[in-house]
Amino acid sequence: MWIPSLLKGSNEAEMKALGMKISADDIYSVNTSSLKDAVPHFDGGCTAEMISSKGLLLTNHHCGYDNIQSHSTVEHDYLTDGFWAYKMSDELPNKDLTVTFIIKIEDVTAKIFEGVTGLATEIEKQKKIQQNMAALSKSFPREAWQEAMIRTFYDGNQYLLFVTETFKDVRLVGAPPSSIGKFGSDTDNWVWPRHTGDFSLFRIYADKNNHPAEYAIDNVPYQPKHFFPISAKGIQENDFTMVMGYPGRTQEYLPSFAVEQIVNDLNPAKIEIRDAALKVQDGFMRKDNAIKIQYASKYAGVANYWKKWIGETKGLKKSNAVALKKDFEKKFQERVNKAGKQSEYGTLLSDFEKNYNEIKPYAIAKDYFTEVVLRNSEILSFGYRLYQLEQVYNSKGDQAFTDRKNNLIAGFEGLYKDYSAPVDEKVFEQLIHLYATKSPKQFLPESIQKINPAVSARLIFDNSKLTNYNGLKELLNGDAKSVVERMNQDPAYQLVKLIADSYQKIVAPKFDEINIKNIALQRTYMKGIMEFFPNDRIFPDANSTLRVTYGQVKGYKPSDAVVYEPISYLDGVIEKYVPGDYEFDVPKKLIDLYYAKDFGNYADKNGKMPLAFIATNHTTGGNSGSPTLDANGNLIGLNFDRVWEGTMSDIYYSPEICRNIMVDARYILFIIDKFARATNLIEELTIVYPKSKKSK
Ligand code: ARG
Ligand code: ASP
Repeated sequence: MWIPSLLKGSNEAEMKALGMKISADDIYSVNTSSLKDAVPHFDGGCTAEMISSKGLLLTNHHCGYDNIQSHSTVEHDYLTDGFWAYKMSDELPNKDLTVTFIIKIEDVTAKIFEGVTGLATEIEKQKKIQQNMAALSKSFPREAWQEAMIRTFYDGNQYLLFVTETFKDVRLVGAPPSSIGKFGSDTDNWVWPRHTGDFSLFRIYADKNNHPAEYAIDNVPYQPKHFFPISAKGIQENDFTMVMGYPGRTQEYLPSFAVEQIVNDLNPAKIEIRDAALKVQDGFMRKDNAIKIQYASKYAGVANYWKKWIGETKGLKKSNAVALKKDFEKKFQERVNKAGKQSEYGTLLSDFEKNYNEIKPYAIAKDYFTEVVLRNSEILSFGYRLYQLEQVYNSKGDQAFTDRKNNLIAGFEGLYKDYSAPVDEKVFEQLIHLYATKSPKQFLPESIQKINPAVSARLIFDNSKLTNYNGLKELLNGDAKSVVERMNQDPAYQLVKLIADSYQKIVAPKFDEINIKNIALQRTYMKGIMEFFPNDRIFPDANSTLRVTYGQVKGYKPSDAVVYEPISYLDGVIEKYVPGDYEFDVPKKLIDLYYAKDFGNYADKNGKMPLAFIATNHTTGGNSGSPTLDANGNLIGLNFDRVWEGTMSDIYYSPEICRNIMVDARYILFIIDKFARATNLIEELTIVYPKSKKSK
């Protein structure tokens, strides 16, 4: 996960040795157009790539999912049936969807540390750093339509500034039906071999000057500085591959004590909570199509990390990550001693150990609070927003209260559109039981410890105003004082307040106090790793900024006597096909194309239709939608996932077993061309064909 502006030197040499034909300057340059100009951050959480001179972009189906879902109703169900704009005027605008490009990257470390070293406490230092960051991102020279943001790298040892451009008029152009775009759904999620055509298409619109603008009917297609030609030449094992994108978060340099806690305490707690919520939702979704649409996106989000944590826990155990970390720590300590640097690093590891022991119950309590109250019980999460509203009133008074209240009322409309009280009641009953019995007792109010989940669920869902949008509006109607009074009589609100009060008073302050010490230790540890292991190639943990990762197309051995090949084919869809199934149904048209071998120009040299492939690129959440490029910088695939045995890669990356999963570009072209018959889109693309095939 290398920084694109810093590839010259050892990265570039290694990439060339692996087969890359282009240069570091072709990937990142400030003055001329480069590959980075074709790789925006999609909606803050995914990656996309430009594939035409007219603003057309490619990302994953699961990245566009929220937007596809929000245009869907039981009558126009684009999730089930797919959506294709056969002309630009059919493209669908999306409220609040943004796409952000990086214009340039600058190292500002020295400026951020100005006036910091002399300060006595960690809190003062952090405050000064925050002030410097705010001041510099405000004053940094840029155009009126651009922004600047600063992020830390290597846990506070380096700071880089990014000048960005954010586009706000982004329209839906195409999405295959979920039976292609989400084929295999949660059963196949995080798993190889895979057969998901996980892609969707959007178009960026700009003002007349090609600059970002709010949605307007007369906006024009954006002309990117670079877009990717798409290769229909195909790939083979050991080919060079490069992935550019916005990996969200990795924790590759955590000490063993932290990893132990994740494996033994935090992941199991979160998995159990989500397991309960998902079982309830799944039961309703299978029976009721309207609920299926309402909960599709939420369910996918919750299920995704539930499953990832299961795989991650298994992988960390199987790879002996904790023991390997402990070995490394021993070596670290030896090198500290040998260098005579005990005063700076001597107690680092024992301090880590002490802090992680101390923080453990608070960390568990924090995860219970986050997963139960903020994330998975919807009525409690709604109540928590009102709890924050009351806090705004208490600390900032009437005007702030009214502003926030109006925002909330507007925001709640969308939440209630996809809300079903009967589903949520059952979820609540399960989760409050776990909260009362499994989260650390010493922090729980006594009435919570004694709660009867079924009785409490009935009481709340029969009497709370929060079970529907009209009730919520009624509750929030009027001046601050009467609203707050009324909220405090609502049974859902009362419960949230009881839980949140005790969390905020007992758990959060202590957690923060220990956590800030760990953050400081982590910064020192990172500095030490770079100092004492200068020959290890140390990349900075992911932080949602643009990175370049590279590797080779490669299969792997998941377990004894089993070998996985690196390329999957459409044949696998037909093998997995279960007519009418929730996850493994296949559209008739695709089956027909398969049996007619009607693959257009996109089949491989044996006449088979390639579908997905894996490679050794190190990726994580946020890399979804990332372009996979060949040695010449042409698009060969679209990243969307990782393999089951390697899901621990956020914490411990093992090159033997960690692989990223991509849709083959040829399958995407085949679906657009042969399945959707969207020739308007195919004509817009630049497709590079092998010599044996003619371009049309
Ligand atoms: N696991 C992939 C990622 O982390 C794909 C998730 C979307 N698919 C799903 N079935 N939830 O985003
Ligand atoms: N599926 C992930 C994403 O949405 C990618 C991953 O975690 O490998 O970014």
